[in-house]
Amino acid sequence: MTSSKGRDQGSWDLLFIHANLACMTDAKYTTIKNGALAVSGDKIAWIGRTDELNKEISDLADQVIDCRGKWILPGFVDCHTHLIWAGSRSTEFEMRLAGKTYEQIASQGGGIFSTVNAVRKASQTQLFDTAAKRVQYFLTQGITCVEIKSGYGLDLKNELKMLAVARRLGRELPVHVEPTFLGAHALPPEFSGRSDDYVDLVTETMLPCVKDQNIATAVDVFCETIAFSKDQTRTLFSKARDLGFRVKLHAEQLSDNKGAQLASEFEALSCDHLEYLSLDGVRAMARKNVVAVLLPGAFYMLKETQTPPIDLLRQYGVPMALATDLNPGTSPVFSMAPVINMGCLLFGMTCEEAVARATINGAKALGLDSKKGSLEIGKDADLVVWDIDSPADLAYLIGRAPVNMVAVSGKIEYKAKSC
Ligand code: NIG
Ligand code: FE
Repeated sequence: MTSSKGRDQGSWDLLFIHANLACMTDAKYTTIKNGALAVSGDKIAWIGRTDELNKEISDLADQVIDCRGKWILPGFVDCHTHLIWAGSRSTEFEMRLAGKTYEQIASQGGGIFSTVNAVRKASQTQLFDTAAKRVQYFLTQGITCVEIKSGYGLDLKNELKMLAVARRLGRELPVHVEPTFLGAHALPPEFSGRSDDYVDLVTETMLPCVKDQNIATAVDVFCETIAFSKDQTRTLFSKARDLGFRVKLHAEQLSDNKGAQLASEFEALSCDHLEYLSLDGVRAMARKNVVAVLLPGAFYMLKETQTPPIDLLRQYGVPMALATDLNPGTSPVFSMAPVINMGCLLFGMTCEEAVARATINGAKALGLDSKKGSLEIGKDADLVVWDIDSPADLAYLIGRAPVNMVAVSGKIEYKAKSC
């Protein structure tokens, strides 16, 4: 699709010229040097070389941007975040540095529960205001599409409050938002010792309400010894499937609970984390083409030493994606560039693989790869102009994401001050 044989030239809204394009088609850079890219409405209308433009350039589009050799890539698709929260967990970071584990902190009422307390106390407006700042910052880092989970409310009112905030973020901010219902993130304290009762509440009350309000596109569960069992996850997934939701799973993050096999049975969009994924789990994911979403920020922050089985995933052809996992506990990571860097250095990816996993494969993990994640004619015009010498700079530079300009749905939504 990345040839000049697109729609007829001319009458475009926006045209970028003299850009190097890394189209990320087929999860490769698919480079076009001295390229041009045209936008009509919210879609990419034409891609080719600048010297293939066959009319006076100023006649071709309402607005022409000369990129002077800068690079254009598809916007990053961050397919796993917990971006809406209140409160702070930096003291837990200090506790972990002093030797406490994530599980120990959770068992003493900290961890996810500490954020649940803060979120329950916060108003919808307070949650929206803080989350909106995070989304705006994401945009400046080249993220144009973000998945946002609930999961810090853990009762009907507060889960719906979080999802309403996610929906409002998507409506009012220029970043595409995919909301995911994660009511089964942790067992709320009021259900202590009665986890089946809570699963029942999520399954029989919360899921139908979320469906009625049409307020989430997917359902996620934290399947782990400190959260929900494989059987409980099955109960939830069965109901979710009956209601027409796609599912995804926090699987094998701290131990192997065979969540990947279960998620594959339900043809999940993705299994996420996966440090303790077994060979059988890899095989199950390969059979159903489930995306492995790898989250090196959480791996790094928890000082985990067991890496996900990257070589096996490669060998069995399981598509992999990278995401920030932005959350206040395990991954306070606000940008995709460090995630790409960690994907290379901690998980042994090439720069090209890591960039593909933050773009087209992120879109695949959300079921959006026919619309987003690569520069192709007919796809959403979500793209980033980068002031870099090569796409490898996205993996190589630390602490600097040289974003020049960001377009979402064909509109320039961010320009760096130096533009
Ligand atoms: O993806 N693993 C569970 N959920 C989050 C952490 C949430 C938290 O600690 O607040 C994660 O790492
Ligand atoms: Fe997560």
